[in-house]
Order: sequence, then structure tokens, then C-alpha cells
Amino acid sequence: MNLKDKVAVVTGGASGLGLATVTRLVEKGAKVVIFDLNEAKAKEAVEQLGENVQYAIVNVSDEESVQTGMKQVIETFGAIHICVNCAGVGTPGKTLGKKGVLPLENFNKIIDINLAGTFNVLRLAANEMVNNEPLTDSGERGVIINTASVAAFDGQMGQAAYGASKAGVAGMTLPVARDLSEFGIRVNTIAPGLFLTPLANTLPEHIIKKLGDSVEFPKRLGRPSEFAELATFIMEQEYLNGEVIRLDGGIRMAPR
Ligand SMILES: NC(=O)c1ccc[n+]([C@@H]2O[C@H](COP(=O)([O-])OP(=O)(O)OC[C@H]3O[C@@H](n4cnc5c(N)ncnc54)[C@H](O)[C@@H]3O)[C@@H](O)[C@H]2O)c1
Repeated sequence: MNLKDKVAVVTGGASGLGLATVTRLVEKGAKVVIFDLNEAKAKEAVEQLGENVQYAIVNVSDEESVQTGMKQVIETFGAIHICVNCAGVGTPGKTLGKKGVLPLENFNKIIDINLAGTFNVLRLAANEMVNNEPLTDSGERGVIINTASVAAFDGQMGQAAYGASKAGVAGMTLPVARDLSEFGIRVNTIAPGLFLTPLANTLPEHIIKKLGDSVEFPKRLGRPSEFAELATFIMEQEYLNGEVIRLDGGIRMAPR
């Protein structure tokens, strides 16, 4: 898909990997609506990136909230061609820790945002994409990119909920790609390793270095711009579908 003048929804687009993706999309001539709960950061992004970026305060795990957000995108930019799901939370918690058993509520909350939230947004985005005229000779109408994590495959201690949520995102990639193939909508997932997002940036220098050293090569944390470049490559490369791609410098996470 040629990205010029296409319309994208990026959840979690106010920060980190999502914000880098919004920035890259704008550089490529696309229009973007950020779906996020952090209004201050979303506003800041719009101020910096100009009139081709808008935001909607959307909770990805709330059906009505996402429906309202989608309506806003159609009213503002007329269509949805691209959906990138970056909204996510990673609160750790051991199954059985010093404070006792992990409350089910904590587990469910992470599943609700990371897994059900991703599905909620992608299904409603697909419901708009089907209205697009085919964009290519093959009949492509849209592209969806989800964000899992290497924790989907090698989750660490305390990541039962997070790892399960991200394994769910990885696991639904192929079946959703199959479901949407008849409409010309592709679905792929990126599984990032350790990235230098705002959260990691608050860590002391020596901890950042230690984390970087745990990567096979290159020995550093990933740059959000590298995630964004892979995301836009997936959008542009029509033959890539139903795939989960690790972007992690070859890291395999240790138990802790
Ligand atoms: N940073 C990493 O190293 C890393 C590694 C692997 C996977 N990931 C995944 O990448 C994604 C982005 O991570 P990041 O580091 O950029 O995080 P981040 O915290 O910088 O950004 C996440 C954004 O999602 C938003 N958000 C949270 N819950 C939401 C909800 N219910 N509805 C709408 N928006 C919501 C937040 O407000 C925030 O702006 C997440 O899914 C994360 O699990 C990150």
C-alpha cells in the first residue's frame, strides 16, 4: 500500500512505539488519528506533528468508546486504511508472590486491554476498511498491525498475565488474517524485544546499559523509530500477511 494520503488509526499513539509510528506515517504523507487515554501527550503529539494528526480519547477495551473514535476518524478523514495497535500495559505480578496469590482482577485487566482491546479495535477498523475501494490490483483494502512482545514466547517471572495477553495477540494473527482475507485486509503482528521508550528512558544509565548488553546484537535497546520503520514496511509490502515478526536483536529473555 502506498501510504500517501491514506488514513491510519494508531492506538497508544501518544507515546513510545505508537508515537514513533504516527511520526513515520506523517513523514510518509498519511493522515493519522491517535486513539489514547493520555490526553496531555496526545495533544502534544498533535501540536508537534501538525494538521494531519488528530486524536480521540479512546479506551481500547471499551466497545462504545472505540465505536465513537472510529466515527470521528470517518468524519474527519473519510476512511480508514491502516490500523496499528500499540496501546498496552505491562504491570508485572507473580502468580504466587510475597503478597500472596495474584488477584484474578489484575490478570483480567491486562488481558482486557492488551488482548481484548486489540481485537476490539481491529474488528471495528476492519468493519470500516471493507467500505474502501480496492487500493491495488490485488484488491487490497486495508492493513492491520498488532503489537505483541517477545514475552509472548519467553515471558519472564511476573509476566503470566502480560505473556498470556501477548501470546493471545500473536495467536490470533493468522486466524484474523484468514477471516479478513476475503475483504483484502492483511493482518500482521510485531513482537518487540527491549525498546527505549519513555518508561525505559527513566531508568538509570547503568541499567539501560545492562539491558542493552543482554541483547545478542546490536548490544543496545531498540529505537522506537526502528519499530516504526518495520510497521511502515509491513504496510507497504503487500505480500506480507498472517505473520508474527520478532524485532529484538536476537534476544531470548532469561527467567528474570
Ligand atoms: N517498550 C518496549 O520495550 C516494548 C517491548 C515489547 C512490547 N511492547 C508493547 O508495545 C506497545 C507500546 O509500548 P510502549 O513502550 O510504547 O508503551 P507506552 O506506555 O509508551 O505507550 C502505551 C500507550 O498506550 C496507552 N494506553 C494504555 N492503555 C490504554 C487503553 N486502555 N486505551 C487506549 N490507550 C491506552 C497509554 O496511554 C500510552 O500512551 C505495548 O503494547 C507494549 O506492551 C513494548
